Amino acid sequence: MGIIKKILITGGAGFIGSHVVRRFVKRYPQYQIFNLDKLTYAGNLENLKDIEHEPNYTFIKGDIVDQEFIRKLFDKYNFSGVIHLAAESHVDRSITNPMEFVHTNVIGTGNLLTASRELMDRGGEFDCFYHISTDEVYGSLGDTGLFTEKTPYDPRSPYSASKASSDHLVRAFSHTYKLPVVVSNCSNNYGPNQFPEKLIPLVINNILNMKQIPVYGKGENIRDWLYVEDHAAAIDLVYHSGRKGETYNIGGNNEWKNIDLITKLCEIMDRKLNRKPETSGQLITFVKDRAGHDLRYAIDSSKISGELGWEPALNFETGLAKTVEWYLNNNDWLQNVISGDYENYYDKQYLER
Ligand code: NAD
Ligand code: DAU
Repeated sequence: MGIIKKILITGGAGFIGSHVVRRFVKRYPQYQIFNLDKLTYAGNLENLKDIEHEPNYTFIKGDIVDQEFIRKLFDKYNFSGVIHLAAESHVDRSITNPMEFVHTNVIGTGNLLTASRELMDRGGEFDCFYHISTDEVYGSLGDTGLFTEKTPYDPRSPYSASKASSDHLVRAFSHTYKLPVVVSNCSNNYGPNQFPEKLIPLVINNILNMKQIPVYGKGENIRDWLYVEDHAAAIDLVYHSGRKGETYNIGGNNEWKNIDLITKLCEIMDRKLNRKPETSGQLITFVKDRAGHDLRYAIDSSKISGELGWEPALNFETGLAKTVEWYLNNNDWLQNVISGDYENYYDKQYLER
């Protein structure tokens, strides 16, 4: 089949990006998928081993902050669309090193928008700049209510402020230059290939190694969890059918208090590892709270379900079981990502708390 579209996916070696790249490479042989990734600590080409030799897949190592490089890349390939996931994505790291987040998330997005605009102005057939964002831009909820697409922005961490800033830039390019854009804001993802600095894989890894499970504050913060492949399916739909200039909220309708989620994971792991009940629960340790810790996120995804017919396919029981199973069956992956700098990061983040 001839190639009819060249699509640039940024951050495709990361957690969500790798699931999106795989989905597009497999479902759309008529698209050439270019995965642009700097391969930071969070990027890992092992995530894509199963598709790396597919004829419609190309990996490019590069930095979205490098404006000249991005310009030349767009000149060379004349992409017809961009799905932009590359970012610094971890709130805790943004508290330690905010400027890294400003560079990648704000300047990097600005560079991609500028190159897309230049391509469009040259008469290229550019049909979509799709920006992947987060529910954290809306701030924090109290005990009730949901984030809708109309909720005012109120970012409260350097990470969410940098993502909010990039969302604003994307909309400004749509309004000012008529760049065809679409934005989605998603809740917490979980599933295979997530770097074990984020809650669910960190808990799984610590239980495996009988290490303490660090719970920030009292564990009462609430997140809305979505299986990563459900997010990838939503991204596919929004890319192809989302209305340009619009925003779509994506969520799991699946709120969990951190301590309840961790307790559930402990029970699952005890069963899977044939350990006595309560073995993992004893590892739970309450530690100093995250600075500025948002209390609750929860998404109203009625717009994407009403307009595009998207719903999460997996319930949480099944998703968590699949996730735990994946980490248990992919110990090599886990060992690879926790070698090197991971120990330094972990000691700094937790042992000094
Ligand atoms: P991740 O940290 O696992 O992956 C980010 C990827 O971007 C990595 O492969 C990394 O190497 C790459 N990258 C970082 N800086 C780069 C640069 N300067 N140039 C090129 N590549 C660079 O992140 P993730 O959890 O997969 O999140 C992906 C996107 O989805 C992010 O934009 C994030 O804000 C958004 N998001 C994440 C979640 C979540 O729960 N993980 C939820 C909603 C939205
Ligand atoms: O809501 C979407 C966001 O979800 C994404 O935009 C981010 O990229 C993604 O990292 C995630 O942010 P969170 O800060 O919610 O995820 P994290 O896994 O870091 O933490 C989830 C909750 O668990 C949060 O309330 C903090 C808490 N936590 C986290 C860690 C790592 C702990 O109690 N202990 C921990 O060790």
